[in-house]
Order: sequence, then C-alpha cells, then structure tokens
Amino acid sequence: MHKQLEATIAKFFGTEDTILYAACFDANGGVFEPLLTEKDAIISDSLNHASIIDGVRLCKAVRYRYANASMDDLEIQLKAAQAQRFRLIVTDGVFSMDGNVAPLDKIYELAQKYDAMVMVDESHSAGVVGNTGRGTTEQFNLRGKIDILTGTLGKAFGGAIGGFTTGRKEIIELLRQRSRPYLFSNSIPPAVAGAGIYTFNYLEKTSELIDKLHENTTYFVNKMKAAGFDIKPTQSAICAVMLYDAKLSQDMAGLLQEEGIYVTGFYYPVVPKGQARIRVQISAAHQRAQLDKCVAAFIKTGKVLGILK
Ligand SMILES: Cc1ncc(COP(=O)(O)O)c(C=O)c1O
Repeated sequence: MHKQLEATIAKFFGTEDTILYAACFDANGGVFEPLLTEKDAIISDSLNHASIIDGVRLCKAVRYRYANASMDDLEIQLKAAQAQRFRLIVTDGVFSMDGNVAPLDKIYELAQKYDAMVMVDESHSAGVVGNTGRGTTEQFNLRGKIDILTGTLGKAFGGAIGGFTTGRKEIIELLRQRSRPYLFSNSIPPAVAGAGIYTFNYLEKTSELIDKLHENTTYFVNKMKAAGFDIKPTQSAICAVMLYDAKLSQDMAGLLQEEGIYVTGFYYPVVPKGQARIRVQISAAHQRAQLDKCVAAFIKTGKVLGILK
C-alpha cells in the first residue's frame, strides 16, 4: 500500500517517483544532507518553514537567504552562489504564516539563468492552489519541471500524519539509500496510506472541494474586512488576522476559544517581531453558518479588546 501511495502521489504531481516519510517535517529534515555537501549552496526564502530551516542546518552546504519572495534579492544571492558546485533554491509553495504563494514562475526563470535546482514545499499548496489543486507547479504551468517537491498528508489531505518527497527518480533513489528519517524511523500506518490513496484519487476526479474551499475563504475574508479587521492578502486557505501585539494575540485567541472557535495566536519567534496575529485556516468542510459564527465571535471579542469600535 505504501508503494501504491508513492505511485499515486507521483501521478498527482506529474513527477517520476516519491518517497514517504512519517511527516513532512521528516521529509524536509532528510532531503538536504544526502544530496548536497560543503561544495554546494542552498538559497532559502527568509519565511521558509521551520522544518526546512532545520533540514538546512543538518547539511554542510553554504547557506544563502533571500527576503520573502523578493526576486531581486534571490538574484543577488544566486550571483553570490556561483562559486559553489550545485545550487538549490528552496521555497515554501504557500507561506504558512501569511498565505501568499511563492512566485514560482520567476524563481524557475532565475534558476535556469543561474544554473540552480528548485525545491518547493507544497504542504500548504497541494490540494489548495492550482485549478485542480495540484499545487504551485499547476498554478505556474511548471508540472514536471521542478526538481524536488515535499508535502504533507495532513492539512488538505486530512491524514494528520505522513509526508513525502517527490521528484526526479535519481533524487528519490538517492534519498532511499541515504535519507536518515526514512532509513531510521517507522513509516506511516497502513490505514493512513489507504486514506491517502483515496484522497489523492478523489482530487483527481473532481475539484468540487477546492472550489468550495476558495468560496469559503473569499466569503470569510470579505466579511472580516467589512467588519474592520486587517487581513493579509491571501491566495490560499490561510487567513492571517493581523493584531501586531503578542499579548493581544494571546488574549484574543483565548476569548475566541471560549466562544467555541479553535484558533491560535502567533507571536515572535513564530512570526517576526511586531507581526503578531491570529491565523485562521478555512476548510472546504466549513458550513456557511460556521463561518458566520466565527466572524461574529471575532467581532464580539474584537470589541471587548478594543480592536473594533
Ligand atoms: C510549510 C510546511 N512544511 C512542513 C510542515 C510539516 O508538516 P508535517 O505536519 O507533515 O510534519 C508544515 C506544517 O506545519 C508546514 O506548514
């Protein structure tokens, strides 16, 4: 079943092969060290997920960092990295705290120009971004062109555990021989593998849930903005309700939980200093009445805390 799921994931993303991990944290933790050495360079977006940052720390490659989604800065870093043997640009597909999509078309162009490989973490973009939910490579018409994709079986795929790396077969083969979280840890339970096969196949058949998700997100964001909340521009299921104050984010999340709304307040170091927020994740399973209840709870607690008049 695990092999069947690996093949199903490769078909979904239009890649050659897939390797499963217990979580995407492990996929990201085990992808850099087997492939790159101190002769190579990793060029990483400043807002990349913690698991990418930890994976990079486990690898001896020279590190470069560019400002979030800034293509001018990426180009500067790529020029500096010409001294190294191989270059790997690494980005989240959707940034997990803000909800914006990485400009993969421009990243790919720069990668071609400066002879670099590209890796995208599709954890928040697979099942969400692109007309049929195949992620950023679908959105930017780059199916089969990105060297490495990682992702989770949680989030859009609902499995709550499990992750994968998918891409060129030589890369996946090398990971099977050398990736430590794969070699020295259990795989996912068979029941999760079975559910994963079902979910990926389901998304191949219909975009019904993706359409519902985007409809729900647009509805929620519009209602929240109309109420006077400051929401970061999102292109995904992530809606960052900006509060800018750490204590306020904790107080508000606490009050919202009392209202039956399960949200978490994020503050430094999870997000940059002065950028505290409550991150709301919308689901295709949400009913209109639930979204209305959520907005009403935000308005009520926003008034209690003096955020709204
Ligand atoms: C961008 C990104 N990568 C990786 C992960 C880790 O995924 P998993 O829960 O499968 O370890 C997450 C989850 O928080 C994420 O947001």
